[in-house]
Amino acid sequence: MSNLNIVVVGATGAVGVEFLDLLARRHFSFGSLRLLASAKSIGRKMKCGNRDFTVEALDENSFRGAHIAFFSAGGSISKKYAPIAAKCGCVVIDNSSAFRMDPNVPLVIPEINPEAALEHRGIIANPNCSTIIALVPLWPLHRHNRIRRIIAATYQAASGGGAAAMQELLDATKAYLEGGDHKPQVLPHPYAFNLFSHNAAVDPVSLYNEEELKMVRETKKIFNDPDIRISATCVRVPVLRAHCEALNVEFTSPISPSEVRNWLTDQPGVRLVDDPHRNYFPMPREASGQNDVLVGRIRQDISDPSNRSIAMFVSGDQLLKGAALNGIQIAELLVKNGLGAAAA
Ligand SMILES: NC(=O)c1ccc[n+]([C@@H]2O[C@H](COP(=O)([O-])OP(=O)(O)OC[C@H]3O[C@@H](n4cnc5c(N)ncnc54)[C@H](OP(=O)(O)O)[C@@H]3O)[C@@H](O)[C@H]2O)c1
Repeated sequence: MSNLNIVVVGATGAVGVEFLDLLARRHFSFGSLRLLASAKSIGRKMKCGNRDFTVEALDENSFRGAHIAFFSAGGSISKKYAPIAAKCGCVVIDNSSAFRMDPNVPLVIPEINPEAALEHRGIIANPNCSTIIALVPLWPLHRHNRIRRIIAATYQAASGGGAAAMQELLDATKAYLEGGDHKPQVLPHPYAFNLFSHNAAVDPVSLYNEEELKMVRETKKIFNDPDIRISATCVRVPVLRAHCEALNVEFTSPISPSEVRNWLTDQPGVRLVDDPHRNYFPMPREASGQNDVLVGRIRQDISDPSNRSIAMFVSGDQLLKGAALNGIQIAELLVKNGLGAAAA
């Protein structure tokens, strides 16, 4: 067992419980583990593997002696407490969007830019879930044939909205099937047997919503390519867990579906699920609980006569690779290479 002191902020949430599960499943060695959440959860018992832990209140003293803190309790909590944690010498791995575009904070997907994590100044940001799920399979292609433009359409699950949104989908579906009424409480529109534009705020100038703009900005930062052009349409669908995305990608040079399949074969974090004969492609039910992003429907985009464009469909568990797994992989990188400057 190592002597690392670990803190999970937001341990009771949809992402938080995945952190606990992954710490145990990946045999992440720690000396102590503190679970923090809001006042309503204080005293709640939770398990990490077969060990029992009690949820504590989050306050300014929560990070004394801590080495790594995983934050998944929303942007305002991160904004307030991540700098406090970093000041204590603890490395923060933050799931919120609070610091992602801060030039002093690395935005890391370990399959793409692991070196950035090692240059942290106390806080490392985990990218947006839709961004991670698109970029894990696009990166190996980008390295072979530079991507010029991405058009993405997302099909985002309830789990992306947290534990309460998942419960809302279950409750609304039950009420609908029983002929009753369910008033939306977490999401803005009726969720059962419906879909709607992502619930993030819409920018009044561009008319893109925040989720869409995150994909645009974060892709440029992670790929370190300010010229890459991206447009996204993000939609919340009545799926419990795992996001899907239709991606149309324009490359610099002509490209074929077989090249794409070859370049994606055996890539870390990617699994091909691409069987046109059986009409069998990535599905959120099969992506749920999986570490890999499933990739299929790889075909020439017939709207581009220059043969430089590919259409594809991906599905990934955004609570895992889109959030907790990516965070744990960053922590594993740090453990392997040294925690860095901020750690005491
Ligand atoms: N869900 C995803 O797929 C996903 C993906 C990427 C990033 N993220 C980000 O991860 C964060 C958490 O998301 P989630 O889906 O896990 O949300 P969630 O299910 O709503 O969980 C929120 C967590 O934050 C805690 N919390 C709320 N207010 C708090 C406070 N004042 N002090 C301490 N803890 C507090 C909650 O504790 P209680 O249970 O006590 O209320 C709970 O543990 C968000 O920033 C989100 O944007 C989520």
